[in-house]
Amino acid sequence: MATTLALCVVSSAVLYAQLKDKPLDSVLESPLDQPPLVLANAALTLACSTLVVLKHEVFCRLVYATDPLEVTWTFIRGFFGQEKGRGIKVDSWITEYNRLHDDNESSVEEREGSYAKLVNAYYELATLFYEWGWGSSFHFASRWRNESFQDSIKRHEYYLGGRLGVSRGAKVLDCGCGIGGPYRNIAQFTGADITGITINEYQVKRGNEVNKNMGVDQQCRSIQGDFMKLPFEDNSFDGVYAIEATCHAPQREGVYSEIYRVLKPGCVFACYEWCLTDKFDASNDKHRLIKKQIEEGDGLPDMITPPEVDSALKASGFEILETRDAALDPNPGGIPWYQPLTPSWNVFTQRFQFNWLGMRLTKAALYVMEMFYLAPAGTNKVQAMLQAGGMGCAQGGLTGTFTPMYLAVCRKPL
Ligand SMILES: C[S@@+](CC[C@H](N)C(=O)[O-])C[C@H]1O[C@@H](n2cnc3c(N)ncnc32)[C@H](O)[C@@H]1O
Repeated sequence: MATTLALCVVSSAVLYAQLKDKPLDSVLESPLDQPPLVLANAALTLACSTLVVLKHEVFCRLVYATDPLEVTWTFIRGFFGQEKGRGIKVDSWITEYNRLHDDNESSVEEREGSYAKLVNAYYELATLFYEWGWGSSFHFASRWRNESFQDSIKRHEYYLGGRLGVSRGAKVLDCGCGIGGPYRNIAQFTGADITGITINEYQVKRGNEVNKNMGVDQQCRSIQGDFMKLPFEDNSFDGVYAIEATCHAPQREGVYSEIYRVLKPGCVFACYEWCLTDKFDASNDKHRLIKKQIEEGDGLPDMITPPEVDSALKASGFEILETRDAALDPNPGGIPWYQPLTPSWNVFTQRFQFNWLGMRLTKAALYVMEMFYLAPAGTNKVQAMLQAGGMGCAQGGLTGTFTPMYLAVCRKPL
């Protein structure tokens, strides 16, 4: 792969040198009338770049079991479907989203009051990027040595699903389900019948589409609703879990009380919460920037700490069985959860976008795509917002001031 890529770069540079003094129009008018050396070099460049794309494609299919070109095509189609089919104007949505996070124009109180609008706008804009860059589960996981990214994601989900202690056929709720990656995996793992709820209409549509494609639509489903007002009867679920979702709630007690209400007595609620850790120092400028970047880049009204999570769970009536920061679990020689968000020079990983060159290239590529109407206006701003969120999370992980996996397992008393 490296040799082909090097050959591709060298032949492109030679081709540029060969053609740089010729008017572009004359070359385009009669491309085959060029000297034999230029034609040979052009053929070599074309062959090498095709090989690079194909090798990357084959490599990704074998190693990651994904198809990057298909995923990219789905991403572009999705954005246009969003603008045309669903009447979303990306540019005006991101402008309003950014206004809500601008402390000169808005406040924590306004964000909390507008949480539904804030979260819905965020996921309307971010879901396609998430699925494209991360997969169908929108959460972090630490990786064991020799474990693949996708395997670590599943293990993280199976662990939480296992803590519910449910049997085959049990009725389970996934609170804040994204496009359903976790519930499809947990349903297969536990045999439970899972309903996922998300506030965002596009996520519901996409989740149910994937359920159908995977043949699990009898066992799992997504519905649209607000977890601050769950549309279910009291005592209707044998287990509830939430993965990195309840952090979007304007008040934790509000969402936990709703979960408590719909859970049957004696059953378990398990979740991974986003929290600031006790290393967070509100008087430290760097820490404050990390908090702001995470809130702004991830659609959160405000962030809280583990003791505040524990108090809200108890105030909602739960009996706490266990809480701990799972990011601190021993993982000898493994990869921390935030590593995928740290910069890398490997162009075949999505981490490339976090180095200074990758950031500029992504910006330029989206700018050109917007100019040629290959992406809706505003895509660039969405990417910048998400990138800032990614950097905030990475810094939060590196400094230990933030965790996306404060584990809470609790029970509704009998
Ligand atoms: C980071 S994503 C996690 C999704 C999923 N748990 C996963 O791991 O793939 C957060 C999810 O919470 C949902 N969410 C946030 N606030 C919500 C609310 N008030 N009601 C329902 N869903 C909400 C979002 O729509 C999104 O699906």
